[in-house]
Amino acid sequence: MNDQAIFQRLLALVEQYHARRKDGKFLEYLEPQALARELQLEQEAPGDWQQLFHWIEKYLQHSVKTGHPGFLNRMWSGANLPSIMGEIITAVTNTSACTYEAAPVSTLMEHYMLEQMLKLVGFEDGEGQMTTGSSSGNMIAMLAARNQAVDGIKEQGLSGMPPLVAFVSADAHYSLDKAANILGLGTDNLVKVPVDEHGRLRPDALTRLLAEQKAMGRQPFFVCATLGTTVRGAYDPLPPLLELRGEYGFWLHGDGAWGGAALLDEELRQRYLRGVEQLDSFTWDFHKMPGSNLMCNLLLFNHHKGTLRCACSAGEHSYLFREEHEDAELDTGTASLQCGRRVDSLKWFLDWKYFGRQGLGQRIRHYLSLAEYAEDRIVQHPDLEMTVPRESFNVCFRYLPPAGMDANDFNLKLRHCLFEEGVSLVGVAYIGDRLTLRLLITHPDFTTADVDHFLQSVVDMGKRLANG
Ligand SMILES: Cc1ncc(COP(=O)(O)O)c(C=O)c1O
Repeated sequence: MNDQAIFQRLLALVEQYHARRKDGKFLEYLEPQALARELQLEQEAPGDWQQLFHWIEKYLQHSVKTGHPGFLNRMWSGANLPSIMGEIITAVTNTSACTYEAAPVSTLMEHYMLEQMLKLVGFEDGEGQMTTGSSSGNMIAMLAARNQAVDGIKEQGLSGMPPLVAFVSADAHYSLDKAANILGLGTDNLVKVPVDEHGRLRPDALTRLLAEQKAMGRQPFFVCATLGTTVRGAYDPLPPLLELRGEYGFWLHGDGAWGGAALLDEELRQRYLRGVEQLDSFTWDFHKMPGSNLMCNLLLFNHHKGTLRCACSAGEHSYLFREEHEDAELDTGTASLQCGRRVDSLKWFLDWKYFGRQGLGQRIRHYLSLAEYAEDRIVQHPDLEMTVPRESFNVCFRYLPPAGMDANDFNLKLRHCLFEEGVSLVGVAYIGDRLTLRLLITHPDFTTADVDHFLQSVVDMGKRLANG
């Protein structure tokens, strides 16, 4: 096959997959062994385009259709078409976004987009970068805070330094624990602050813990406010945390991986993110609610120009970055933890230009109104209950099994049966010791009819299981 024939066949498959992404089941499920037999991974294929196309067809056939309305498991559904266009071009041009000379267009797009986001959040004299996801964003923010807290810590390491301690809510994302591990703080030095009945960090508890840790000779250097928790969708209250920062001088970071999307609408910003412009840093994933392809993350620093570069750079790298270049200032790689950097800016730029803040803001409001609707339906249904009241975009609920049956086991089984039958894939988590189904609506075409259909499928499956 020549290149032209290959591209034609490939693009036809892509187009066909995209057109049918909402049809039928969301997955043709096979047990791992059966799938392995189907895929014939051991098969050799030197020079064999037909075999490569065979694998591509199998890949498409057995992949989870994340653009299907039954895919409710994660914080995204499918991807925006402008973003998909960007990804195709990114693959075909295949460069590394670390220097202007190797990636001139993507460099300018990344800088442009970060400037837009700094303005949107309200950070003055700030800087930013795209990272590999909010897990990295959280870690880099903690790294910068650590380096700023103690002189010489970047060069000399932690030994012999004052013991550092960081704080997050008990419902914060596990990436903060990972960051504490990777950065050498130790996970025990990430203090988990109790949450209130809404799942928000309790400022009174933080006040007490800060004083306790200080009295023990430790240095509180970093507090992370979760702005949209992973399970409950709770927003930690920023004004009291900002006040505590004034007293203790820690770095205040906002993890808006999920809930940062509220910035796209002024009313939602006022409702959920009051004070965000005063944070020291903020991270947010455009690959979640806004719908850009994975990964599309931004990390922003406020009033700290040069800190990002200082935190992330180390070692001799003149083979790559040379200051005598006129455009050296633009080299995004010098402020990154990576050497090679994937181009993530093109898809982001195209999405932003096509939908704009207004279009994306409307989308986020739509998701919120569907979450409100879902909660309403659940509260009214005799076989369903909200596990906890809704805070924002997350709907935590479960099926009420007949008396005598364990609700946790029952709901876990129910969820698995929905998955195996290709009906839906919905999230699951524990809140305390209660297992909850976590409905997240992130599909732009989702309607109230889809919500009804999904809840009915849960009820139908629940009844089937209850009747053995
Ligand atoms: C609150 C929160 N923070 C951080 C993350 C990690 O984001 P990423 O998957 O982009 O690393 C998540 C992911 O679900 C999250 O919900």
